[in-house]
Amino acid sequence: MQPTKNPTLLFVSTPGPDEQIDPDIHFELVNKELDLKTACLGGGVLIKTLLLSSEPYLRYRFRNPSDKSDAGFIPPVQLGFPVDSAGIGKVIRSDDPCFQVGDIVIGYLDYSEYCIYPGPGPHLFKIPMHKLNPHPGIPYSVYLGVLGFPGHVAYCAWELYVKERIQSAKRMYVSSGASTVGTFVIEYTKLKAPHVEIVASAGTDEKVDCMKKSGADVVFNYRSEDIQVMLSKHGPIDIFWDNVGGRTLDMTLVNMSEEGLILSCGNISTMSSSHEIQNYDQVYKRKLTVQGVICYAGDMAKPMSTFFQDVVPLVLDGTISHREHLYHGMEEAARALCDLHTGANMGKAVVVVCDDEDEE
Ligand SMILES: NC(=O)c1ccc[n+]([C@@H]2O[C@H](COP(=O)([O-])OP(=O)(O)OC[C@H]3O[C@@H](n4cnc5c(N)ncnc54)[C@H](OP(=O)(O)O)[C@@H]3O)[C@@H](O)[C@H]2O)c1
Repeated sequence: MQPTKNPTLLFVSTPGPDEQIDPDIHFELVNKELDLKTACLGGGVLIKTLLLSSEPYLRYRFRNPSDKSDAGFIPPVQLGFPVDSAGIGKVIRSDDPCFQVGDIVIGYLDYSEYCIYPGPGPHLFKIPMHKLNPHPGIPYSVYLGVLGFPGHVAYCAWELYVKERIQSAKRMYVSSGASTVGTFVIEYTKLKAPHVEIVASAGTDEKVDCMKKSGADVVFNYRSEDIQVMLSKHGPIDIFWDNVGGRTLDMTLVNMSEEGLILSCGNISTMSSSHEIQNYDQVYKRKLTVQGVICYAGDMAKPMSTFFQDVVPLVLDGTISHREHLYHGMEEAARALCDLHTGANMGKAVVVVCDDEDEE
């Protein structure tokens, strides 16, 4: 039998620290081959990829391995090797007694149509694969979005660090309020603490409308409005949920309430361009608390025990919305990785590699 073509996206060139990743420069789609009947599984499983997630933090993995500044945070993708990320697939052969042919699984997959898990590559960042038992009425892709990594961090950080503080808070600011995390935070806050006024920003007018629909009270486009002017007009901010860092954080520092909370969730604005924080002295002058969070790390793992029982009903009744930006086929995979960093995605970026329905 002829080997099967296996389109695979390789990471082939390291961007500079202040350079945007580019589908045509830093990635290459190659037609590898895999014999689906005889390929050695080495005790693992052969997976047909259905969906792949594109995540902002992958930008940290597209770095020069000699850059040790993020070494303890996350390992780099090796040059010449496939990009890997969270994904959903179907088991088509198994050497592993935990998985049967036909199982739908979620875990860390190569950016390719087929992959062997755990596979022979130097995957320094494999997280355990497990079976996905989706709730009826919820598409698989939602388990990469609001029921996946972005939803997990939003829920766990909110429950751990925001829940108590928000009772006495008047105002919260959410940067990147139309991102997957930002949308969850706005909708969850409106549900749990309706007394709080939510200020939110995003980079297009269409996203500004989305934030309004999510329930934010004051919305603005940070590309056309001055953040400092908007926050001084609509502040002070008691709780800042920061998905962006950089200049946005700087402008918010001077508009925080005394003893306010900054929940540092992400720094997407400085992943491809540097910004030196000017107003850090406001942390002690205003007696602020700054809480950084990383999904599943330390205490952040604890609220996961109630995540699905709490959030699945909210997704089913539409209280928590899932907006997706779908990319079709491996040809669009590199674009999915890059769009997050220019704001071209309108929702959770998911690559649809193969529709499960096509398989039946
Ligand atoms: N700590 C954790 O464990 C954890 C887990 C998941 C996510 N996060 C972080 O949470 C944030 C949101 O993640 P997500 O998955 O929800 O993102 P997402 O849905 O993929 O959306 C990313 C959005 O970020 C915005 N953005 C890109 N470059 C920007 C810039 N220079 N300045 C301001 N905004 C910019 C863009 O929207 P605009 O058009 O509005 O610019 C883009 O659409 C990211 O910082 C991510 O790293 C953290």
